[in-house]
Amino acid sequence: MEKPIYLDYNATTPVDPEVAKEMTPYIESFYGNPSSSYSIGRSNKEAVEKARAQVAELINCQAEEIYFTSCATESNNLAIKGIAWANSDKGRHIITSAIEHPAVTEVCKYLSSQGYDITWLQVDQYGRVDPKYVENAIRKDTVLITIMHANNEVGTIQPIQEIGAIARENNIVFHTDASQSVGKIETDVDKLGVDLLTIAGHKLYAPKGIGALYIRKGTRIENLMHGAGQEKGIRPGTENVIHTVGLGKACEVALRDFKQNQHNMLASCDRLLDGLVSQLGNKVHVNVNLENCLPNTLSVAFENVSAHTLASFISSEVLISTGSACHSGETTISSVLQAMNLDFRTAAATVRISTGKHTTKEEIDFTIEVLVNAIKKLT
Ligand SMILES: Cc1ncc(COP(=O)(O)O)c(C=O)c1O
Repeated sequence: MEKPIYLDYNATTPVDPEVAKEMTPYIESFYGNPSSSYSIGRSNKEAVEKARAQVAELINCQAEEIYFTSCATESNNLAIKGIAWANSDKGRHIITSAIEHPAVTEVCKYLSSQGYDITWLQVDQYGRVDPKYVENAIRKDTVLITIMHANNEVGTIQPIQEIGAIARENNIVFHTDASQSVGKIETDVDKLGVDLLTIAGHKLYAPKGIGALYIRKGTRIENLMHGAGQEKGIRPGTENVIHTVGLGKACEVALRDFKQNQHNMLASCDRLLDGLVSQLGNKVHVNVNLENCLPNTLSVAFENVSAHTLASFISSEVLISTGSACHSGETTISSVLQAMNLDFRTAAATVRISTGKHTTKEEIDFTIEVLVNAIKKLT
């Protein structure tokens, strides 16, 4: 067992060996520019198109509806600003939620500074948006609804299908940031009823520095960057062929192993929670409704234990993250936990433990032992 045990897969994942293998020829030999008409260019173009089809298959769309970007942040920027700008003749109102990643909230705040009106929907105690709130927030000038599929900190899954139906009924473009859900739960764009969907490569065992945006055919969007004609001119710039090939392979593997991976992630999370509860009893507080949560994510607070102290105390053995930031002795609670109205003590004691597709029983049992010992020492 390699130490420290990594249980922060929502932060990032390692590159899958199958993905690395697929990328290697493009690092070592196949250097052609996909826009060149001679053979080493054409073969790279084909590699990019193969990747596009692989990504499309995972989310059940057409290959031509996938646009490669550098990361989820870029995909979100393109989706939100692109739709807002393209529809400014119709209106300047955007609906989002209070528990989005900064890659959405900061874009909305920027647009707000440019004269757009943003509605920030509140969530319930588990971090879930009520579709009725979405419906009630719709106005004549609403041009976009952007609500994440699953939350990165607590794992709560949003009722995207219901929101999608509302968006469609009202003829409003609907974007979801699916950075945390792709490869973990089903992300079929038609079933979800979304017009745009963000994918983050490094959350699904592709390298960092590659993302994608699904844009439903016929959706009016403005590009952020202007240049040559790559990605149909919507995201110009010479393609990152190496990482694109990696993302394509990662999506193929995610689709092939979907059931097995989901089962493994859920089993490891369940084993972890059972072990902790059996040894610590009601000192363990689960922050979310586990029936409506990503299979790999556990947001828990341990009574009277500072999450920061705990995470750093165990960091040579197990790597987890916290729901608060600590600077010069002052604790700031994350905006997600604040939106969930978690009391300060519970929020300051909250850790996020996120398992991976290959997390083993041995790793989980060791983690339980490490956490229980640490909590006993710290209380
Ligand atoms: C839900 C969500 N959206 C967007 C991002 C941003 O991803 P990136 O930093 O790769 O652009 C993350 C990363 O943690 C995320 O969890």
